[in-house]
Amino acid sequence: MAFSELFLQELAERNDIVDVVSSYVQLTKRSGSNLFGLCPFHSEKTPSFSVAPDKQIYHCFGCGKGGSVIGFIMEIENLSFPDAVAFLARRAGMAIPEQEDDPNAKKRERMLSLNREAARFFYEQLKAPSGAPAREYLQRRQLSGRTATNFGLGFAPDAWHSLTDAMKAKGFTERELFDAGLVRNRNGNVYDTFRNRLMFPVIDVRGNVIGFSGRILGDGEPKYMNSPETIVFSKSHNLFGLNLAKKSKMGFIILVEGNVDVASLHQAGFDCAVASLGTSLTPEQARLLSRYTNEIVIAYDGDNAGQKAAQRAIGLLEKLDMRVRVLRMEGAKDPDEYIKNFGADAFRNLLEGSENHIEYRLQSVQQKYDLKVDEQKVSYVKEAAGVIAQLPGSVEREVYAMRVAEQAGIPNTAVLDEIKRQRKNKLRTAQRELTRDQLRPIRQQEKRSGVRYENPHSAAAEEGVIRLLYLDSALFHSVQPPKPEQFSSPELRHIFTVLLEHAEQKRPVSLAALGETLSTQELQILTRIIQQDDASDRREQALADYINILSTDSLASEQTDLRAYAEKLKERKGYGGTK
Ligand code: UTP
Ligand code: MN
Repeated sequence: MAFSELFLQELAERNDIVDVVSSYVQLTKRSGSNLFGLCPFHSEKTPSFSVAPDKQIYHCFGCGKGGSVIGFIMEIENLSFPDAVAFLARRAGMAIPEQEDDPNAKKRERMLSLNREAARFFYEQLKAPSGAPAREYLQRRQLSGRTATNFGLGFAPDAWHSLTDAMKAKGFTERELFDAGLVRNRNGNVYDTFRNRLMFPVIDVRGNVIGFSGRILGDGEPKYMNSPETIVFSKSHNLFGLNLAKKSKMGFIILVEGNVDVASLHQAGFDCAVASLGTSLTPEQARLLSRYTNEIVIAYDGDNAGQKAAQRAIGLLEKLDMRVRVLRMEGAKDPDEYIKNFGADAFRNLLEGSENHIEYRLQSVQQKYDLKVDEQKVSYVKEAAGVIAQLPGSVEREVYAMRVAEQAGIPNTAVLDEIKRQRKNKLRTAQRELTRDQLRPIRQQEKRSGVRYENPHSAAAEEGVIRLLYLDSALFHSVQPPKPEQFSSPELRHIFTVLLEHAEQKRPVSLAALGETLSTQELQILTRIIQQDDASDRREQALADYINILSTDSLASEQTDLRAYAEKLKERKGYGGTK
């Protein structure tokens, strides 16, 4: 799926970074040619986010984020590189070259545009005079017009062929409607799948309409009808509302059961709510969530099924190292009802006081046992100690141990001893894993820590060479360039090699076109380097100086590199203490 550099360059040219950024950030002109605004990636009161129209890059002096227009869209829309490219291509009305040679891609493209048209049709029906019953239903559920627009809600009319006719008029075939699950076929009679229902389009993180969920207006069965699995829709791989929640600044994601819960939470200001499309959370959905947050608040229904589903979800999310909290709602069966009964502020309080998963799990463990029976008491303490043993802090462990001891009516020390025993076992396993960890190649460790210079003198020179190579590669035609080994980190080395290749082949270079060749981290480093301006009248002299510095310093820094690595290894061996 590699895009050609020529294509990426054109894409960047047709999506001027100032225009693109301006639709997310209010930019004002300040010093020099740069524009400034409040950084959309961290909260701040004075603008440290800059856009350089001449270099077509953005850079935040506060949080360090930066890159090309493609990088900006990746970051702000939370998209992968190819998806960001598609996003910008769509914005500029360009075709994406690669997609034509994949036969499935064409079919997917078709189904997605059918879905989009269908969503538009439903949306229009909701606003039309005949959409009155659906609008009344929304009103009864206290969902506003704004919420309807935010989610692209719609109405499927109470008729057998309204969607079919509208889509046929747009050039879609019955076959295509059938494949998308929008019509059904009974003995050759084709009719609309969704009739007289409130329509929730399911939109993926790229902004594609991939399916629908339709609720009956009032009582009746089935309450919800969902699109079947298609080549663009898989329930187990998507979450309702994630297209919006991924942009939330709340820092966590609220996981609920129902679509209506999601809509009313967003309406009440909790724009980070998502629902797993009528299934219990799947491992794929958990992984998807982990791309956007490391903290989940589960707000499932209070009934038995909901609580069981919560348990399963906790297990899946914890496996991915996510922080999990569970909300307990008294006096309401789900978040939608809770907000209606008690208001948004009450829900916020609930969120703030929500139990961490340890508390929740201890309570669930306790419910399994009858503490009046001795044997059950023993099993309870063992299982509870297992839960507590996972806590990293010793004070925290003691607090919960006391609670368990109290409930079981035994001395604190008995519980603490059991926790200690279980931790010892865990530690042994952990240590085995640690040893394995140390055998991992050095490269991986460096990657995590980013660029770290041992020598600031040489650092300025390395960056200087790279900056000049990017901004004015012609300078290099008349000098002997440095060697890749003279750069102190694999990232800088790689950036240098790639830029030098372009210079040698006299190929123009742009950050956008390097989007696939360099890693995200490397792009960030390169952006930081090129946004610093060099005195443009002394470039030749500067380059000569940089090259000079590098050749004298490179030997020394190589040795420090090795020494630093040895130190790092030692530090890691010391870790794993028994506190
Ligand atoms: P709920 O019955 O809890 O839905 O089912 P809800 O959103 O709270 O519905 P309201 O408040 O009565 O309108 C939770 C989710 O399970 C799926 C839907 O995705 C729903 O949002 N579901 C439910 C179905 O797929 N089919 C059904 O028949 C019922
Ligand atoms: Mn509900």
